[in-house]
Amino acid sequence: MAKVLIVYCSLSGNTKAAAEAVAEGVAEAGVDVVLKDGYAASYVDLLGCDAVAFGSYDAFSYMGGALKDFLDRAYYPTLDRVTGKPFAAFITHGGGGLAAGSVESVAKSFKLRKAAGTVSVKGMPEGDAIDMLKGLGSVLAMAAQSRADAGG
Ligand SMILES: Cc1cc2nc3c(=O)[nH]c(=O)nc-3n(C[C@H](O)[C@H](O)[C@H](O)COP(=O)(O)O)c2cc1C
Repeated sequence: MAKVLIVYCSLSGNTKAAAEAVAEGVAEAGVDVVLKDGYAASYVDLLGCDAVAFGSYDAFSYMGGALKDFLDRAYYPTLDRVTGKPFAAFITHGGGGLAAGSVESVAKSFKLRKAAGTVSVKGMPEGDAIDMLKGLGSVLAMAAQSRADAGG
């Protein structure tokens, strides 16, 4: 069965709630979902999924530490082994949101393929933001299914 990995970091709960909304969108599309904090995730998770979502709070216009830690640890062990794998990003912020650029730039270094536009949310996601996050999950689920059907 196709699988979507969601790796996120969250200090005060906003991005964790966003990650849970993305996970709901994936699950509603009938695709397996694994949700992990950056410190708990390993490169094996990235190798084993068909699509990945990276979620972060904005920390001084950059991604948060736990997601950066995961990406730093995963880089060499996955080098040239995840080329073309679909990814998407979601960010929560306090009014800036420039951290999105850092996530997209690192994903490019991994040679991942952007499957959906980054969803950026101010503060705790609710209402339309939840719908957009669930939509992101749904798009990633479809991308994961296509990749799995094509044999990875
Ligand atoms: C150390 C730190 C730096 C931050 N820097 C920014 C920033 O540069 N731009 C911004 O829009 N928000 C900034 N914020 C606000 C957070 O990104 C925002 O509150 C976010 O929703 C928190 O997510 P979380 O609840 O998942 O930790 C910063 C927060 C912290 C703790």
